[in-house]
Amino acid sequence: MNKAIYPGTFDPFTNGHLDVLERALNIFERVDVVIAENSQKNTLFTVEERLAMIQEVVSIFPNVGVDVLHDGLLADYARTAGAKAIVRGVRQVKDFEYELQMSLLNRHLYPEVTTVFLMPNVKYTYVASSIIREVAMLGGDVSKFVHPYVLEMLGTKRDERNKRR
Ligand code: PNS
Repeated sequence: MNKAIYPGTFDPFTNGHLDVLERALNIFERVDVVIAENSQKNTLFTVEERLAMIQEVVSIFPNVGVDVLHDGLLADYARTAGAKAIVRGVRQVKDFEYELQMSLLNRHLYPEVTTVFLMPNVKYTYVASSIIREVAMLGGDVSKFVHPYVLEMLGTKRDERNKRR
């Protein structure tokens, strides 16, 4: 099967991510979203929360799976999963340097894998998880940029944080 993986931190999963996923589904028969647990990154959402939100958002697609990369290399995960492609969304030129490094390293580690860069719709050019987190935690409206379920989870997080203050 012509299968790809779509890895990321997804903290949280945005409509920009969804747009990239839909584009990948036009190319590949199956795409698995792979959440990197990434102990070095201080995430707003736990890996369980990110898993739950992505499962909800992608439940409309019969050919999309969601999995977690708890530790280890993405290249090893791709090899074991039998994925020949890694999908990454690129919004701006500044994303490219880091993406190029990662793609060439992943190719070094697993020569059969090809990284495919996809550009989301231009309306998501400035939509990044980091800015969505910041705006949502400060009470701003991000409903145009995330799925209603993700919006609800952001609201819950904000309420929890405000209660702790
Ligand atoms: O959404 P992000 O944070 O830009 O995603 C980065 C991610 C998760 C794709 C990258 O950090 C990754 O692949 N992590 C897994 C560990 C690994 O293989 N690192 C070496 C990458 S060359």
